[in-house]
Parts: sequence; structure tokens; C-alpha cells
Amino acid sequence: MGEVLTVQGGRPVDGTVAVRGAKNFVSKAMVAALLGETPSVLRNVPEIRDVTVVTGLLGLHGVDVTQPDDGVLVMDPTDVESAHVADIDAHAGASRIPILFCGPLVHRLGEAFIPDLGGCRIGDRPINYHLDVLRQFGAVVDKREGGIRITAPDGLRGTRIDLPYPSVGATEQVLLTAVRAEGFTELRGAATEPEILDLVAVLQKMGAIIGVDTDRTIRVEGVERLRGYDHRALTDRIETASWACAALATRGQVFVRGATQPEMMTFLNVFRKVGGEFDVTDEGIRFRSPGSRLRPLALETDVHPGFMTDWQQPLVVALTQADGLSIVHETVYENRFGFTKALGGMGARIQVYRECLGSTPCRFGGAQFRHSAAISGPTALRGDDIVVPDLRGGFSYLVAALAATGVSRVQGIELIDRGYERFAEKLEALGADVDWTSTSSVPPARGRVPAHV
Ligand code: EPU
Repeated sequence: MGEVLTVQGGRPVDGTVAVRGAKNFVSKAMVAALLGETPSVLRNVPEIRDVTVVTGLLGLHGVDVTQPDDGVLVMDPTDVESAHVADIDAHAGASRIPILFCGPLVHRLGEAFIPDLGGCRIGDRPINYHLDVLRQFGAVVDKREGGIRITAPDGLRGTRIDLPYPSVGATEQVLLTAVRAEGFTELRGAATEPEILDLVAVLQKMGAIIGVDTDRTIRVEGVERLRGYDHRALTDRIETASWACAALATRGQVFVRGATQPEMMTFLNVFRKVGGEFDVTDEGIRFRSPGSRLRPLALETDVHPGFMTDWQQPLVVALTQADGLSIVHETVYENRFGFTKALGGMGARIQVYRECLGSTPCRFGGAQFRHSAAISGPTALRGDDIVVPDLRGGFSYLVAALAATGVSRVQGIELIDRGYERFAEKLEALGADVDWTSTSSVPPARGRVPAHV
């Protein structure tokens, strides 16, 4: 059953939380450190389990990772070496990050072994784009029992790539491979999420030559060597939006210290349309629920600069409190509405559909995936026993539990630890009545990075 958070709901959240570096950037910047010949310094690093996982994976490959100060990681890749397959497998756990080790490890060691990948169960989540990209650089992909071995007998060479979909991970795969490949790489159809642009900034500090055009084309001129970097991670825009939705759903207010406006613009527009109010300051963003009812709306998730798929789940919970019918069309993952079933048990009225309920062309249209949702509100939510399905769905259950009257027992909250730093402490700081109990005999990995790993 794992860890359980008991939430006594029905109270507005009220207070301040600090949000640090973006999970979906920090882990990639840590992988980039493998490419340098000198140590890298990453700042604003949150204490989340994904950081612990990547720290362990780097350690297995001979990278010395230390934490001289809170939120600061120093990664020394001087003695990169091959890791034992069983160790990689044991360390990777549910993470999908190991796939991004391919390019850097092949550059450094001539080969890489990647165990079968985990990650949140929000769709099929294949790695075909990653493997196609690596092959185009000249890598040989050998599928073996328990994982994949990648080699490049003739080295990795720059190439022209056209992605069938602007995949975040595949774009990062190209960047991390192209920077030290021989010659030029042109990537068309790239993802341009802020976390990717921050990775480009890191690679540029390391000595890479990368141009990002306005038409989703990225051009990389390979270089022979890269040095370490010193960089402060951009703020986690998913965590920021998650707390904003908690304010909306509970009719409360949250000041998110560290939140920055440019990465939040699309979310802020939606927040405003639903009826929320916000103030942007130099220190962060204050999100407030209106005194009156929320307004319903129709939206579609999309790649950047569209409305992020990871903002969808907590927003859906807030929309259960809106006055009328809201429609959400999920166009990034085919199976990201599974979490709504348990919300139904709490009193929400959410219907999921196979049809595209939106105008954006979507890859899931003719298929059998329930990827559109209609949310009727407002509905009073009641506390319930709920099991966390995945990271973002799990946080959205916490939001629902806060908004509900009565007690909720949210089970499996260790999944939320992957991407939300010290969330139980933050909930308490917002005045929530929560109690964390462990039902397993093994103490949970709480994301703390040891002083020396
Ligand atoms: N896809 C393929 N083949 C591939 C790769 C992706 O078909 O080889 C498909 C996926 O199945 C999905 C779509 O392309 O339908 C987009 O996937 P993408 O590659 O962009 O996602 P990702 O790199 O695996 C990252 C984040 C996700 C976030 C997405 C979209 C990390 C570690 N994960 O995943 O974050 O939802 O981009 O922005 O960066 C989360 O934080 O909870 C999370 C799931």
C-alpha cells in the first residue's frame, strides 16, 4: 500500500510555498554534465526522488556527485566508466531518464546499456523516436534481454532529422548526442519547451554551438570537447501551476516563491479565464481564487507554447468547482484521464470520451483512446480513500482531498515525491490538516540527496 497521507479537507489553502528547479530540466542538466571534461555546478536543485535516481545513475558511471550546499550539486565526470547492468536496472526504478544517457555515454565510452524504462503510466510511452534518432547518428541499437545496448563502431556523426512529433525527450536526445557528434546536425520539428531551452543554455555554457530557429528547427555544430557548466535551474512551472490549482479548487490563495511569469503565460491566461486572480512580483506569483464561483472553459493540451499536459490534472480538479460544463481535450498523451475515475467516487461529474472534443488536430482521433473529458460543475467533493495512479494524477488527488469535505486517505503518495519537493510540509505551511503515515517496513526514499554519493 505504500505511504498514506490523511487529509482533513474543506479548508482554503492560505500561505506561501517555495518552488525550486524544474524536475524536467534538472534531470537532463545532470545528464549533460557527463559530456564535460571538467566538473559542472547545478543550482536551485529540488530534493525530489528523480534527482536521487539520476545522482545514483551518474555515480554508477563514475561521476562524483557532491552537494556542498542546499540545492547545489557538483558533478565531476573526470573518471566516467561503464556501469554494471544489474546496478543500472536497480537504480533506474520507475524513471525514463536512462534513455538520455545514450549519446553522452557512447561519446565518452563507446557504448551504453539502457535498462527497460518505467515512468508514469499515462500512455504507451514508447522510445521509438529515441532509437530512430540514435540510429540516424550512426549508432547501432541492439535489443537484449532486460534492455538495449548502443554502440557506434564508426562514431556518432551529425545528421538531418525530422521528428514526426515535437517530442521533448527525443529533442533532448538529439541535443545531448549532436553537441559532440562529428559535423552538423539539423533537427526539424523540435520541441521548444522552456526546459529544453534551458538545456540549450547549459550546453552553450559547456562550449556547444546550437541555434534555435523560429520554425522548430534546431541546428547544432558538433565540437570535439566540452567543459563543465555553472547554471541555475529554471523554476518548476508544473509545480507552480499545481499550487495555483490548489488555490482555485479550495477558494484559497498561495504565493509561489520562485515562480516566474514567462514560462507561466499560457497557464496564467487560463487561470484568469476561469476567474482566478494573480499578482506577479520579483519574488514570485500570488495566485488567488475569486470570492465568487469559477467559470467553466474549453481547452486543449499541447506542446509549448500550448497548455501543458502536466497542468491538465490539477486544473481538472479545480474545474469541478466551476459553474457549468468544461471541456478538456488531451492531445499529448493518449491515456491521461484515468485519474478522473476516483474523482467520480468523490462526487465529481466527469465524463471521458474517445472523440476529439476540440479543434486541434490530434493523433488519437480515430483510435479508441479516451482522451477528452467533460467536467460538469460545481460539485461538492467528499473525502474518500484514493490510490495515487501517477505523479501528476497523484498531486491532483491531493488537491481534490483539500477541496473535499471530510477525511481522505491518499495511498501511494511516494509517487508524488518523484516530482514535488517536501509537499507534505508545504501543505502544512498552507494550513492544510495532513498526516503522513508509512505502512511499509522500508523507510521511503524522500528525495534527500546525501552530502556525498
Ligand atoms: N512519443 C513516442 N515515441 C517516443 C517518444 C515519445 O511516440 O519515442 C510520444 C509519447 O508517447 C507522447 C508524446 O510523444 O504521446 C510526447 O512525449 P514526449 O517525448 O514529449 O514526453 P517525454 O519526454 O517522455 C516529458 C516529461 C513529461 C511531460 C512530457 C510532455 C520528463 C522526464 N518528462 O516526457 O513529464 O509530460 O515531456 O511535456 O521530462 C511529468 O513530469 O509528470 C511528466 C510526465
